Amino acid sequence: MLGFVRVPPQAPALNLEPTSRLAICPGSFDPLTLGHVDIIRRAARQFDRVVVAVLHNTGKAPLFTVAERLDFIRATFADDPGVEADAFSGLLVDYARRRGAAAIVRGIRAVSDFEYEFQMALMNRRLAPEVETVFLTPAEEYSYVSSRLIKEITALSGDVRGLVPEPVAERLAEKFPAAPESATDA
Ligand code: PNS
Repeated sequence: MLGFVRVPPQAPALNLEPTSRLAICPGSFDPLTLGHVDIIRRAARQFDRVVVAVLHNTGKAPLFTVAERLDFIRATFADDPGVEADAFSGLLVDYARRRGAAAIVRGIRAVSDFEYEFQMALMNRRLAPEVETVFLTPAEEYSYVSSRLIKEITALSGDVRGLVPEPVAERLAEKFPAAPESATDA
């Protein structure tokens, strides 16, 4: 006699397919550092397309204009058609939705970054649950690099070569020409 196989009741299948394989790497990028570049290249290996989104922040006085920051990103990723540069203002999640992004990618250099990033990720999830935040860690040699320190060091005539892309280093050198050594320094 043929028996019946009881099929257990199943929960409705979760649709875990991303709506798109596009990721947004948002930030101020004032200026782009090799730490950012490292994270963006890692993101580009995980997603079909990456949009590096520069925040148009009217409240801050940046060193570089948004146009300059976009130029740095375009020059640095000219070899990678999967990476695009764009500017945004307003809420990041609104921008991510407009672009149909599956994910927001943020770099975490150290534990000290984590609290702020975690808070932002949870708030963004509350605002747009369908957009996942993905954290990536840069190569160790960039774990101490930040745009703030790059600006501070350059303003004090320090050497930031090897920490920022070449076009950024050139523009920084133009903005902060090295002070001639005074007689008392000799
Ligand atoms: O490079 P930064 O300055 O650390 O980047 C911060 C950024 C741009 C990711 C964040 O300030 C941001 O998303 N700003 C857009 C406004 C917004 O969405 N605020 C709510 C965040 S929960």
